[in-house]
Amino acid sequence: MAGFHQVAYGILIGVALTLTSSPLVTYLVCAQSKKQSRKAILPPHSLKSDQILDGVTGLIGNTPLVRINSLSNALGVEILGKAEFLNPGGSVKDRVALRMVEDAERQGLLHPHTGSRIFEGTVGSTGISLATIARARGYDATIIMPDDVAEDKVKALECLGAEVKRVRPASIVDKKQVGNMARQAAIDFGCKGIPENSEKQHVTHEIQTGTPSMVVTATLLHAHPTGTVDDLQNEESTTKPRGFFADQFENRSNFYAHYEGTGPEIWRQTNGKVDAFVSGAGTGGTIAGAGQYIKSMNKNVVVALADPEGSGLFNKVKYGVIYDHKEAEGTKRRHQVDTVVEGIGLNRMTNNIDLALPIIDDAFRVTDVEAVAMSRYLVQNDGLFLGSSSACNLVACVKLVRKLGWKGGQTIVTILCDSGNRHYSKVCELLFCIMKVSEVYSRNDGYLRNSNIAIDHAIIEKLLNS
Ligand SMILES: Cc1ncc(COP(=O)(O)O)c(C=O)c1O
Repeated sequence: MAGFHQVAYGILIGVALTLTSSPLVTYLVCAQSKKQSRKAILPPHSLKSDQILDGVTGLIGNTPLVRINSLSNALGVEILGKAEFLNPGGSVKDRVALRMVEDAERQGLLHPHTGSRIFEGTVGSTGISLATIARARGYDATIIMPDDVAEDKVKALECLGAEVKRVRPASIVDKKQVGNMARQAAIDFGCKGIPENSEKQHVTHEIQTGTPSMVVTATLLHAHPTGTVDDLQNEESTTKPRGFFADQFENRSNFYAHYEGTGPEIWRQTNGKVDAFVSGAGTGGTIAGAGQYIKSMNKNVVVALADPEGSGLFNKVKYGVIYDHKEAEGTKRRHQVDTVVEGIGLNRMTNNIDLALPIIDDAFRVTDVEAVAMSRYLVQNDGLFLGSSSACNLVACVKLVRKLGWKGGQTIVTILCDSGNRHYSKVCELLFCIMKVSEVYSRNDGYLRNSNIAIDHAIIEKLLNS
């Protein structure tokens, strides 16, 4: 019997050796390993067939949701960032700019290729998005921005062919505040061509827009001294240049870009598994729109505000008064929002932040030092080079998780608004410095030096372990 077994094993081994060296087996093994390697290199958001997008605007939105591995692993939760920096204009503001222009076109207020010009006052991101869409849709753009924002944004705007005007930062009550200047520039655009001797006060150029502060002006050719304008849909009227002040702060299209875009995308991407949504507010559009949508799907989701230094919103959420202590101390570095973090923070109520306040459950103050430390932490641990408002959002995510004592895999979603390459001249230089010495101030950037922004290497570790 033992002899029979030995013979059977011998035959089996012989057959196996023959098979494994046969071309058929070699082919099958190769095919299998090819299949596996194909699987390995496919990105998680693999492309569908026949997916051709319609121009640059087709690239806007549908951004991936990315797990922030370092923070998620350290905290035992899922911290997910909506990669808005992948939009073609490089920020979350592409959605808003596109929606504002599309809504104006739908309402018959703007007509492409008519020599019409879009005006906006912005710290930069919205300007870059508007300039991108203006080029793609057949408009010109004039962007008015404070002269203390990162140089990189000015260069990007100029490359996109936008007219850029830079002014000293000023308060909202000042005629020279960027938004006020953009509105006035749109009004003046509509006055172009008015003869010197005409009675200007009798010439109404402003077209009713439905949003009090949004301004659309028509040129003299279709505005009558009686104060009436030609029918907006009249063919001649639609071919004349118009000035359009987009007004992201008050314009509801900003809210809808997120209520109908960002919010539903987050809901689909997480299969409705969201425990918290964290966002900063510059105009309030993102937190209001995405926050309201997510809350409408599940009222138990915690919506939290990330608020940088110098912004009054933290106190508004916590105590009902929009106020920041720096306003009182006379130590303001910038007029509107006193922080190294660009794009978020607000010291006045706007239409869009009004829509957010009822659904914000909590607010977290984030210092400049924390935001800068988070930028560095993300570069070092995740290879993610993000802008300062994204870093601010992620600090707030950590604070929220620590405050609520979450460590059971809860899902926190936030917005990665733009990339660090928008901020080379401010944050990158700072990063470069802090990677070399433990506590330094930026050497060339007077803003940071004067602001005494100290760098604490261990600050994020401390937060994570607090
Ligand atoms: C870089 C950046 N992040 C975030 C925001 C804030 O978004 P929102 O205006 O929707 O509050 C802005 C706004 O301008 C921004 O420029």
